[in-house]
Amino acid sequence: MKSHLNSNYVKTVVSSNCCLIKSQNKKEQDFAKDVAYGLTRKNKFIPSKYFYDKTGSELFDQICSLPEYYLTRKEIEILSSIKQELSKYLVENYAVVELGSGSAIKTRHLFEMLSKNQEKIEYYPIDISSIVKESSQRLQNEFDNLQITGIVDQYESGLDLVKDIDENKIIAFFGSSIGNFDQQSMLDFLSKIRNGMKPGDLFLLGMDLVKNKEILEAAYNDSKGTTQDFNLNLLQRINSELGGDFDVSKFEHIASYNSKEKRVEMHLRSKIKQQIFISEIGLSVNLEEDDRIRTEYSHKYTLSQIKKIAKRTGFNITKIWRDKQNYFALVLFSISKTA
Ligand SMILES: C[S@@+](CC[C@H](N)C(=O)[O-])C[C@H]1O[C@@H](n2cnc3c(N)ncnc32)[C@H](O)[C@@H]1O
Repeated sequence: MKSHLNSNYVKTVVSSNCCLIKSQNKKEQDFAKDVAYGLTRKNKFIPSKYFYDKTGSELFDQICSLPEYYLTRKEIEILSSIKQELSKYLVENYAVVELGSGSAIKTRHLFEMLSKNQEKIEYYPIDISSIVKESSQRLQNEFDNLQITGIVDQYESGLDLVKDIDENKIIAFFGSSIGNFDQQSMLDFLSKIRNGMKPGDLFLLGMDLVKNKEILEAAYNDSKGTTQDFNLNLLQRINSELGGDFDVSKFEHIASYNSKEKRVEMHLRSKIKQQIFISEIGLSVNLEEDDRIRTEYSHKYTLSQIKKIAKRTGFNITKIWRDKQNYFALVLFSISKTA
């Protein structure tokens, strides 16, 4: 961990074994800029990282326990079944860096594993959402051997902060969030992760696998409508933070699988011709009936693609674990000593 934080960050000590580092970058300005950019494109979009305000993070946690949302269950199934095997790769002391940690439910399996061999575990959760604070406090109550440095920031800048950790680190990126990147950004991001690793470090990545269209589409179109609420909350967030006048009842949640691109695409469809005004950015947006705003891509992968990705980003694949139905994969990457 960098010993001197630059003035973009403020550090708050929460307790003797927990502190929070918060980026002071004006998030509202980024949000305003990204919304203004995305809504003035021919193919309108809002970046998916803006889903996660307080309500969005809570809705995501509810999505994780929906029967149709197999991703969380399958990833936990794998994690619980590989504890012994994974611990063989974690023989020395490891710090845990987690990207997009959210409620850190899955990370608890890693802590249980590491606790067998090490007295203290340094944990660096990195998340754009202030959920980091609550989840760190909860973890502290459950594990008395954690030393937590919560980082409320974007993945990339958060990674820069933890690049120079002295001990070995395992970087965990669960939840198939890698699937939200488009192809080139995914390769660039994995290369960035790889460049911040030294021999001995490990990278554990959750990747959702290509499967039957019906199963994929059901996962993002649950019968309770929680994913719909999660998607529409983005418009509510623009209303409350940027002075938008979106009427969410005039939008429909759409999630469909694009088999050519191997991704579930999530959109908000305008049910009528309408004009939206967003006062903070002085922007009027004209939408025709059926116009769509893209809010998320969730790419799915094949094993051969995973191998190609590793090759292109300079990683070795140490191990690929899958659940019994081959729905989901946890991939353990390492780097060569000579690299
Ligand atoms: C799909 S959820 C996964 C949460 C958890 N890791 C899991 O597997 O259940 C994605 C998490 O990443 C965070 N996130 C999304 N985009 C981010 C970004 N660009 N930088 C940092 N965190 C981000 C969100 O706030 C959210 O907590």
